[in-house]
Amino acid sequence: MKSTLIKNGTIVTASDEYVGDVFMKDGKIEMVGQGLDVTADEVVDATGKYVMPGGVDQHTHFLFKMDDSRCVGWESSAAAVCGGTTTVVDFVNQEVGKSLKESVENYERDEVGDLACCDYAFHTVVYDPTDELFEEIKKLPEYGITSVKLFMAYKGQAYHMEDGSVLRALQSAKEAGVTIMVHAENAEMIATLQQQTMDAGITGPYGHAVSRPPIVEEEAVKRAACLAELADAPIYIVHVTAKGAMEAIRDAYAKGVKIFGETCTHYLTVKTDVLKSTSPENGEFEGAKYVCSPALRSQEHIDAMWEAIRKGWLNAVSSDHCAFNFEEHKKRGLGDFRKIPNGCAGVENRMQMVWTYGVETGKISKQQFVELCCTNPAKINGIYPQKGTLAPGSDADVLIYDPNGESTITMATSHHKTDYEPFEGWKVKGRPSKVYLRGELVVEDSQYVGKEGTGKFVAGKPFGLAYQK
Ligand code: URP
Ligand code: ZN
Ligand code: ZN
Repeated sequence: MKSTLIKNGTIVTASDEYVGDVFMKDGKIEMVGQGLDVTADEVVDATGKYVMPGGVDQHTHFLFKMDDSRCVGWESSAAAVCGGTTTVVDFVNQEVGKSLKESVENYERDEVGDLACCDYAFHTVVYDPTDELFEEIKKLPEYGITSVKLFMAYKGQAYHMEDGSVLRALQSAKEAGVTIMVHAENAEMIATLQQQTMDAGITGPYGHAVSRPPIVEEEAVKRAACLAELADAPIYIVHVTAKGAMEAIRDAYAKGVKIFGETCTHYLTVKTDVLKSTSPENGEFEGAKYVCSPALRSQEHIDAMWEAIRKGWLNAVSSDHCAFNFEEHKKRGLGDFRKIPNGCAGVENRMQMVWTYGVETGKISKQQFVELCCTNPAKINGIYPQKGTLAPGSDADVLIYDPNGESTITMATSHHKTDYEPFEGWKVKGRPSKVYLRGELVVEDSQYVGKEGTGKFVAGKPFGLAYQK
């Protein structure tokens, strides 16, 4: 394999920023420093550009099924690298009646196949909470899997879990160093509010937000904290959106509970009002494009999310990429917002959006950007320092970001392979100029130049970040 020397870029890691060089060979970073005197097959001049670790997006669903809808899958994974993300940690849903191991093997064979354009690790999602399942959680690190997600939300869906299952999962996980993640919303409150909202005649997309107010998330986060305290095990809250939920995490952590959380790109940028959008072709159903759970929030909550990532109360930003189409999937909820599949595409936009609306506005530093989008997600999932940093011995996953210029997110240039873009029309500053995956150039000027199937599984190690703090 050839060697590459990236020269004179501004190297940014979670702790540093300096003009320097990165030398990579055989898929690994060999040297990082200033004025490197080394012969390479190729020399790339990165003057005026930022050289950062490839992004790690710890929350993607390249497969998610809600009722009869199935989102766009791994055939769109070039979108990750085109946006600067070289590794995703993807959710594998347990097949009912099958072990987690078998579900993961089937998923990798049948869904990922030879389509992956980025590297990937896996979380598992519990659908079938049997005694065997709770025993199996203890063995997951043997298969390179170190996290399990349980849905406290979604009453009536197979993946909805009662508190007893969350508690049992926490108890099993702690001796093995597995991190339990939860989607924290009160399923009962939501089901009742949904019916009341429908009865009140609010049947369109905005009903989604009306029936999922911030307090349903806050309550579930507080319950999750109690469950973690009871089990004396760490818990990780995915996609935090509400100020009260974030404060509950912050306060429980300060009290000694091992509770952590992430937020997502859209909860830092997009307001609830979009659920009321209208368009000539879709009328009031246009807002269905923005149905995801938890629901989008008001500016007060958006501001609280920025404060939380700036101050370290939430430690990662993910995309929650879940690429449902509008025509085929979202429209199943015409006349009943409860049937709109939850989730939106976004893996391609995460880093540019956080850079633009976080770094460029001065809300977070460049080091925090790397920490939130690369380093912490790698640490949380036990794949650091192989992923998430620029250090000798790490995989040569490198993002060269050109901060100049401005572009607009739009369908025409997207790699999501969906029929709409949730961030359509948003302006972004700078772009991925080059992206390397294990030393191979896979993106040039935001265009995919790699080969489908280059993505490889990355085995996670147990006792990730949630066990270390
Ligand atoms: O709306 C969302 N977030 N869909 C994906 C599944 C989940 O809840 O994470
Ligand atoms: Zn979720
Ligand atoms: Zn999700």
